[in-house]
Amino acid sequence: MSCFSSADESAHYGFSVCMLLQHYREQLGWAREGVVELGTGDATAIADVVAGLPELRVRSFDISAPSVERARENIAARGVADRYTVEFGDFFDRADSAAGPSASTVIANPPYIPAPDRDIRMPELWGGVYGNDLVLQLLKAGYRNVVTAVPSYADPETTVRTAEDLGYRVVNFLAMCLDYGEYSSEQKVRDHVRRLVAEGRGWAGEDEYMVAVALFTQDADIPGDRGAQLLRALQIAV
Ligand SMILES: C[S@@+](CC[C@H](N)C(=O)[O-])C[C@H]1O[C@@H](n2cnc3c(N)ncnc32)[C@H](O)[C@@H]1O
Repeated sequence: MSCFSSADESAHYGFSVCMLLQHYREQLGWAREGVVELGTGDATAIADVVAGLPELRVRSFDISAPSVERARENIAARGVADRYTVEFGDFFDRADSAAGPSASTVIANPPYIPAPDRDIRMPELWGGVYGNDLVLQLLKAGYRNVVTAVPSYADPETTVRTAEDLGYRVVNFLAMCLDYGEYSSEQKVRDHVRRLVAEGRGWAGEDEYMVAVALFTQDADIPGDRGAQLLRALQIAV
């Protein structure tokens, strides 16, 4: 077991979460409720966000023991351990188990590597055959607001359509082109992504793909319905 490491992707995630939380501060109500996070990784990106937003509290979960250990060190080093906590375990088993009100906003850069099976470089990053199993599970978990990474090669159209069926709208998003990193460039993953793209289940260039970090909401008071724009930003023809 190792710790997820992809500096560009983590920076994009952290920056985008920060922008979306700040921009929709009142509507999301995170200063009152805090947020929960699926998948801490090494925690550096969100620890910097917590450091920059003094009212933000994040309760995070990760199934990778080395990640939890590294995350706790990084969080302590940034002096935000009182507002950014990490628990070892499956988000879907643990996040709602504690006493007290559950947050209405979840943030995640979820596992999204598509592959025929879990036998990949970092198995904790497996997102199922189409890559979007975890994001679909997150959308079905009952949070009013979901801020999540949506990669272009992991069947984003099904993600957006499923979200719509569940009563979500895409409020806004930030998109960035990323070079294939350690996990996407594994030959087994590359070959699988090529097949998915050929089937019309996503987009990827020879060595690059798009990732958007999007805010989905079921809250009628938060305006915006940008599912089509999100898909176009991910190079999906709609
Ligand atoms: C793509 S990494 C993102 C890490 C970090 N948020 C970042 O962006 O740098 C996804 C993380 O989710 C964790 N993970 C996978 N499945 C999980 C689950 N069911 N519950 C909690 N964490 C999970 C993995 O171990 C991994 O650390």
